[in-house]
Amino acid sequence: MDILKNLEEIKKLAHQDIEAIKTTEEFEKVRVKYLGRKSELSLALRSIKDLPIEERREVGFKAQKLKRALEELFLRKLSELNVKGQMSMVSLDITKPGKKIELGHLHPLTKISQEIKNIFISLNFSVVDGPQVEIERYNFDALNIPANHSARDMWDTFWLQSSQKVSSSQLSAASSRLLLRTHTSPVQIRYMESHQPPFQIIAPGTVYRYEATDATHSFQFQQLEGLMVGKNISFANFKYVISVFLEKFFKRKIEFILRPNYYPFVEPGVDVYIKWKNRWLEVAGAGMVHPKVFEAAHYNPREWQGFAFGFGLDRLAMIKYNIPDVRLFYSGDLRFIKQF
Ligand code: DAH
Repeated sequence: MDILKNLEEIKKLAHQDIEAIKTTEEFEKVRVKYLGRKSELSLALRSIKDLPIEERREVGFKAQKLKRALEELFLRKLSELNVKGQMSMVSLDITKPGKKIELGHLHPLTKISQEIKNIFISLNFSVVDGPQVEIERYNFDALNIPANHSARDMWDTFWLQSSQKVSSSQLSAASSRLLLRTHTSPVQIRYMESHQPPFQIIAPGTVYRYEATDATHSFQFQQLEGLMVGKNISFANFKYVISVFLEKFFKRKIEFILRPNYYPFVEPGVDVYIKWKNRWLEVAGAGMVHPKVFEAAHYNPREWQGFAFGFGLDRLAMIKYNIPDVRLFYSGDLRFIKQF
């Protein structure tokens, strides 16, 4: 009977000790203490054979039962310790290198465009928008480039196949044909049709040309249109606005010249060249708005005057950041984009 009491005692103590285990080292000690070869339980099991026959059955049964129960408890404790161990490794390994968080950023052309918008906003210009799928009238006719005029050859055009013509009673079937705008100049007409001068606007956006691509030509690129209309707007106003813009954009004084060039929608028309690393580079077309353009927008050309300009945005970005190939902007190549 002593042995049975002893087993009860072992059971109680073992439960307490197992419960209190915190580490795997402690675990091993406690396990040896209760289940090891020299443990009280093992001794008790070994001594059963010496008991009187009538006690053997009961003691043997209870001792075996306790042994299995303790083994079960130890097993459970062990898995508990393992889970905790893994968790503490995950949350507490302060020697592990941190995970780098990759942040995206804006595309270089988007950045340039925002920078330019801010400069013109600071000069009291408004930023306006127009559609990239344009009708022939806005892209050509209203800009004094009628059908069959040889000036149309200046813009290689992507015409769109469309059974649906833009419905308007004022448009002839021909001038409502759809195309991808070849320049941002049609936004001039759209804006004038719905606003009264005086005003000054810029219209940045994507334009398309049906051309082979090379390092300086892409079939898709960015332009920045400008238009200022008022009672006494002169070419001097244009020169001033351009000089301020170039200086703010390149963050230094920029030498520039204006060379006469023909654009149907201005008279006189010029190209703007800037001096960059001892070379003259063309960055824009510009001029005084042609009376025919004002007429197309239902303005009285005797009453209003204005200047217009069209910058190549990709060109400005290539010059500013020393980029040799315009196609890089549209390649989606991360090695290029990540440099900005
Ligand atoms: N639209 C012209 C082009 O794509 C550029 C241009 C020239 C715009 C003269 C203008 C301008 O507003 O006055 O080549």
